[in-house]
Amino acid sequence: MFTKLKDEKLFAVIAREEQRQEQEINLIASENYASQVVRTATASVMTNKYAEGYPGKRYYSGCTFVDGAENLAIERCKKLFNAEHANVQAHSGSQANMAVYFSVLQPGDTIMGMDLSAGGHLTHGYPINFSGKLFNSVSYAVNPETEQLDFDEIQKLAEQHKPKMIIAGASAYSRIIDFQRFAEIAQNVGALFLADMAHIAGLVAVGLHPNPTPYADFVTSTTHKTLRGPRGGIVLSKEKFAQQLDKAIMPGMQGGPLMHVIAAKAVGFYEALQPEFKTYQQQVIKNAQAMAQAFTDLGYRIVTGGTDNHQFTIDVRSKKITGRTAEVALASAGITLNRNCIPFDPEKPWITSGVRIGTPAITTRGMKEKQAKEIAHLAHEVMINHADETKLKLVKEQVKQLCKLYPIEQNEFVLPFTSDFNQRQDSL
Ligand SMILES: Cc1ncc(COP(=O)(O)O)c(C=O)c1O
Repeated sequence: MFTKLKDEKLFAVIAREEQRQEQEINLIASENYASQVVRTATASVMTNKYAEGYPGKRYYSGCTFVDGAENLAIERCKKLFNAEHANVQAHSGSQANMAVYFSVLQPGDTIMGMDLSAGGHLTHGYPINFSGKLFNSVSYAVNPETEQLDFDEIQKLAEQHKPKMIIAGASAYSRIIDFQRFAEIAQNVGALFLADMAHIAGLVAVGLHPNPTPYADFVTSTTHKTLRGPRGGIVLSKEKFAQQLDKAIMPGMQGGPLMHVIAAKAVGFYEALQPEFKTYQQQVIKNAQAMAQAFTDLGYRIVTGGTDNHQFTIDVRSKKITGRTAEVALASAGITLNRNCIPFDPEKPWITSGVRIGTPAITTRGMKEKQAKEIAHLAHEVMINHADETKLKLVKEQVKQLCKLYPIEQNEFVLPFTSDFNQRQDSL
């Protein structure tokens, strides 16, 4: 019907976004470039299908093949994280967290998560988020000296407030999270334990960060950050919570699942099960550590002093600028990142004293430590010359040249979309 209709306006916008992604250095810690195979599945006919329910138990007919896709996604996901139960239907990370709360909590129950300004996420009990409105939210921060999780303090707060659920996980935290210790504290006070591994799921998948699955009652994640799948969420749980969880998602929270995204999640998990994915994640960490060291050498303070994972936050005050000024100047030079509070930030969240930096995206482009250091130097040039338009233009040109050498689609870490992909020997 519409085959001759060309939506030139919209496709011009998409083309420009594609060009922006090609020509800019992306240091946003929560972003990545999904492979062509993941994007092909996302754009597939699976988007046409209504499939309320779960594989084998749908409220619509014609679900044989979407069942196949969802079963693959579930089995691969369970294998990847060694989980007893996986629900792959959550539309996003926020909905994954909502599903966990709705499966075992009642409005008014107490939850305890990491404070947003210390690095936690909105959905861990922030007052104006649904999680802070529906539940009685208690927050833990980080130790003011080490800027790291302080388990004695967390234990004390847990004993004082007796939360029904303790939430571990963060959006801006660069150190290993001791999920076992969290589980022990939860057990001591009779709380359920949710680990939100949205940021670090890719590292967890290959064993470069401890897996929370053995210790937590529930584990949530996004699929689009270090995990490099399509935009979406997942929930893993112990078998004893499986039914409650599935019911909380459907019919509790949503109707038809996004079958095209679930198909793409299956592809993302498949990619993550390949040996190359571990090499990729190792490089993500090496790049983050090299870049953090380069910033330290340039006179910046790194929150917690360094990084064990894919991200870190730098305190930009030594260069007499705010996080906001840095973000805006860097964006105009083609370096994309986000301003971020440092722990106990004297500035308001709109301004901030820091910027958050992540290396998943540049590593997907094939960049290594040398380029990571080069990027730190380019960012430094921008921050110390943030009001000098000529300097910013010069850096923008250098950024473009660097990006040209590392095109998004032709990098070594995206698995080829060829027969080789289908021939890989893997029963899943
Ligand atoms: C730790 C954590 N949990 C949950 C989310 C929410 O994910 P989404 O943006 O898909 O709702 C994020 C997103 O940044 C996150 O960092």
